[in-house]
Amino acid sequence: MSINERVEQLIQSLQSERSDIFPYLANNNWQKGRPIYYSGPYWDNNEIAAAITSLLNGNWLSAGENVRQFEIEFSKKFGFEKSLMVNSGSSANLVMIAALKEYFKWKDGDEIIVCACGFPTTVNPIIQNSLKPVFVDIDFSDLNWDLEQIEKKITPLTKAVFSSPVLGNPYNLDLLMDLLKSKNIHYIADNCDSLGSKWQGEYLTKNAIAASCSFYPAHHITTIEGGMVSSNNEEIVSLARSFAWWGRACYCVGPQNYLPNGVCGKRFSRWLKDYDRDIDHKYVFSVQGYNLKPIDMLGAIGLVQLEKFEEIHLKRRSNKERLTKVFSQIEGLRVVDELKGAETSWFGVPIVYQNNSETKNKVNLVKHLEQSGIQTRNYFAGNVLKHPAYSGLGDPSEFPNASKVLDDVFFIGCSPVITEEMIDYIGEVIVDYL
Ligand SMILES: Cc1ncc(COP(=O)(O)O)c(C=O)c1O
Repeated sequence: MSINERVEQLIQSLQSERSDIFPYLANNNWQKGRPIYYSGPYWDNNEIAAAITSLLNGNWLSAGENVRQFEIEFSKKFGFEKSLMVNSGSSANLVMIAALKEYFKWKDGDEIIVCACGFPTTVNPIIQNSLKPVFVDIDFSDLNWDLEQIEKKITPLTKAVFSSPVLGNPYNLDLLMDLLKSKNIHYIADNCDSLGSKWQGEYLTKNAIAASCSFYPAHHITTIEGGMVSSNNEEIVSLARSFAWWGRACYCVGPQNYLPNGVCGKRFSRWLKDYDRDIDHKYVFSVQGYNLKPIDMLGAIGLVQLEKFEEIHLKRRSNKERLTKVFSQIEGLRVVDELKGAETSWFGVPIVYQNNSETKNKVNLVKHLEQSGIQTRNYFAGNVLKHPAYSGLGDPSEFPNASKVLDDVFFIGCSPVITEEMIDYIGEVIVDYL
């Protein structure tokens, strides 16, 4: 019997003794009053067996065979030439922007257009790489960035737009691509919330020069923590790898790491221009890097999660549909919907509280839901410029719709860990409040 099979057997026997410690079983027995998490790992024994087996079998344990295989399979599934796994979606954004700056020789102070409303680690890597974030407000009808404002913010210094569709819900990508093509500006995708979302039948990342993804437990597939940078330009991914792997030039991963002469076949060569002896390429540093490598176990889990992707996508869509149905019967709340042409792989369901008053408002509803055991989330930072970390970057009042998000918008999960029974209960709790 293989190690994997023995591990599976052990998990099954533990499960029959203590099913309560397995959240994916406890969820099936959910009863009113028990917590409803907005998301969480949609796992079964296969992910746990893969994780444990990778620890038992691993030759290296840090990014190795499993991570490399996951990078290959992820690229195949989502239509990229190459991918690099890192330890989070935020790290993916950081090394992706660093790699793009290096590849295109962008200068300090060059501008990247980004939405004023969203997740902070879409914005931070722009600043951390000495580029300038130029903010645009959102359109309150779909909560996505206002495409007309993007055009107005383009200057000779604009190098790219860094897009992150709200909770995975696409805006009109054709309009954006037409504009960017006419101005020769790159499209970078923060795809952390929108893995699997499509516009006119194609993944949103199809025309991106590079794209990032997160595998935090709230996201479509999870490796506990983890992230990916992907591109059809292999050099950009190699540069991202250098940034994530201490800055080193060598790009051998997984089994390639054991090749005495490296995948390039010239590991020991005259790599340094001011040193006329051979040096090991693994110790040649081409950029000032970080260490953002994932451990190999995360790759092993990712490989199993990829197989569930279609099921997860469909469940997220059907949960969104049911939530919309339940919420449409409640006066005063608006559930944001997808545009014609979009097939959204929902990260969460954005809800607009329409008639805020002193006593009845979004915050009080959210508190009521939380007290009833139902997790909710803010639409991330709302207007990022209102937060202390960004106080020097601009006047938040120039982005009134992003500010309105703080007052009026929250989201509820639609991940497959949420059942139809739970959704109906969420509706009951809201009706009770209103
Ligand atoms: C749009 C967006 N970008 C980046 C991130 C960061 O991902 P991670 O939590 O894996 O660092 C998130 C996190 O949820 C996100 O929603």
